[in-house]
Amino acid sequence: MKVMKPLTLNPEITPLLTDWYTVHARDLPWRQNREPYNIWLSEIMLQQTTVETVIPYYLRFLSALPDIPSLAEADEEKVLKLWEGLGYYSRARNLQKAARIITQDYAGIFPTRYGDIIKLPGVGVYTAGAIASICFDQPTPAVDGNVLRVITRVEGLTDNIDSPLVKKGIHESLVRIYPPTGRGDFTQSLMELGATVCMPNGKPRCAICPVGALCKARADNSFDRIPIRNKKKEKTVQDITVLLLLCDGKIALRKRGNTGLLPGLWEFPNVEGVLDENEALKAAADLGAEPGHLVGQEKKGHIFTHIRWRMTYYCIACDRQPDAFEWAGLGDIFESFTIPTAFKIPARLMKYLA
Ligand code: ADE
Repeated sequence: MKVMKPLTLNPEITPLLTDWYTVHARDLPWRQNREPYNIWLSEIMLQQTTVETVIPYYLRFLSALPDIPSLAEADEEKVLKLWEGLGYYSRARNLQKAARIITQDYAGIFPTRYGDIIKLPGVGVYTAGAIASICFDQPTPAVDGNVLRVITRVEGLTDNIDSPLVKKGIHESLVRIYPPTGRGDFTQSLMELGATVCMPNGKPRCAICPVGALCKARADNSFDRIPIRNKKKEKTVQDITVLLLLCDGKIALRKRGNTGLLPGLWEFPNVEGVLDENEALKAAADLGAEPGHLVGQEKKGHIFTHIRWRMTYYCIACDRQPDAFEWAGLGDIFESFTIPTAFKIPARLMKYLA
């Protein structure tokens, strides 16, 4: 096994970063208190998308399910609906599983020990570190892409940050430079610097960086070569034809299976491949919907982590509502069904459905 030499970070960065954070931290909704439920929710949401996208989801989720008991007791459908559009729906399901465990095993009170926090479903080293440091002032780093970028640049490290050993080495080196208090601020200062100053795309804002004077990548102008990462893998491309079957103002929906992509979420009937108009009408007939005519069609794409869907949507007027599907009006679909973004109806087809 390859063992990395212990990495020693410059401890001078600690006070520089926490002082900078005190003045420059963005005023974000999850920074108003250190309530573990709130921090946990925000960190899970922030793993998959940007602060700007997360804010409305976070506020809506908290106002619908304000605490651990309300999340534990909610219908799963409600939790998924609150997550709709964020993607990675297993994270929402794990959040609820963990809330139920906290209710049963910890009397509804969020565990305070790192060793207990990390055992919760959906909580890994990153999330446990963020919660333990932000809420409970523990010296536990939360090493995400932002933090890896900051540390590799400041230290001029050319190790590949996609290597788990490199990540672990950086995590351990950070533990050794935590301040005696204000540890959550130190954790967040690293994330904040990565998000607002030491940015991933384009030129970092070195002139305003609190650790610019110590930064090796700044000194030798290597910021655009650091961090080193694996080459991105090509995504597998799949063609999908989606049938919007319309009958008496209602549209056919069905629930996806429990395995594979988007398990247990709702979708419109679809088949693999690119069907032409006649094939789409025949597919609708095979589903028992007695298709009349095709009223519209549209192409769209959707990108998952490892797969890219090229989607052809057909909107087909039908005379029969087979029982194999749920049939719902547009308003009902928006309100009551969790439809993943891939199956969001293309805007130009909406006029046929309203
Ligand atoms: N990204 C991940 N965690 C974050 C946090 N607490 N604040 C801002 N951006 C983040």
